[in-house]
Amino acid sequence: MLSSLLITRYSKFQLVIAAIALFFTAQASMAGDAARGEVIVDTCKGCHAVEGYQNVYPTYHVPRVAGQSAAYLASALTLYRDGNRDHSTMTAQAGSLSDQDIQDLAAYLAASGPQLDATQEAQGEAPAAAVVCSACHGAAGITPIPGNPNLAGQHIDYLEQAAQQYKAGERRGPNAIAMQAQMNAISDEDLQAVLLFYSQQDGVTSLPFKRF
Ligand code: HEC
Ligand code: HEC
Repeated sequence: MLSSLLITRYSKFQLVIAAIALFFTAQASMAGDAARGEVIVDTCKGCHAVEGYQNVYPTYHVPRVAGQSAAYLASALTLYRDGNRDHSTMTAQAGSLSDQDIQDLAAYLAASGPQLDATQEAQGEAPAAAVVCSACHGAAGITPIPGNPNLAGQHIDYLEQAAQQYKAGERRGPNAIAMQAQMNAISDEDLQAVLLFYSQQDGVTSLPFKRF
């Protein structure tokens, strides 16, 4: 009885230790290596380094990804890879990436763009409706929350496409559900004005072709 109690206690203790060790392993492997990301990013440049390159059916610009936070980029890539964000090209691109590849790419993409500051002052006057969005996306479209996307400097037609997808429930995941609620609470006119305002701020850019 006593020994079995001891064993149970001991194994519980071991489980805790194992859990702590796993936690640190997971943390360690989650750190992205931007230098390795720079090597494997080559295939992405065909689209994300070509300013003006467009997706077809429907037609909209390939989003600017340089200068998004590593946390948002990794989240988006994981969603595509796991089939939780629908886009056939991006799912194919992300399909063979390991978790480590995703972290490395995200670290490189975040470092290859402008280092954006959430306290940046907005240019021009924000439409009144932007006050709701700015809580999560920042006054000038640069988010104070690392897991959220920056909207500043993004192509207007991509922002509109994303907004329509949230509205139609075509982008999935817990954050997409929150965004769907936001999209349903704003008029089309206000949404258009807010997205245009964000797209005109200094923000994300296309990937650089050069190595740094
Ligand atoms: C053939 C063109 C093409 C290639 C190559 C490509 N992408 Fe994309 N990427 C797109 C398009 C188009 C979208 C927008 C898809 C959508 O509407 O969801 C996108 C979306 C993204 C997003 C989400 C942006 C956001 O704001 O949510 C990330 C991150 C991304 N791509 C990273 C990459 C990486 C990393 C690679 C290389 C492994 C890559 N892409 C290769 C065309 C491409
Ligand atoms: C509660 C926080 C929150 C609020 C408020 C909010 N958003 Fe978002 N938004 C997010 C998050 C988180 C995402 C990323 C969701 C995902 O992964 O699909 C997002 C994504 C987006 C995207 C897609 C960006 C991309 O790169 O693909 C657009 C466009 C957008 N939001 C516009 C808006 C607008 C316009 C408003 C105001 C009407 C708004 N958001 C309000 C949190 C918020």
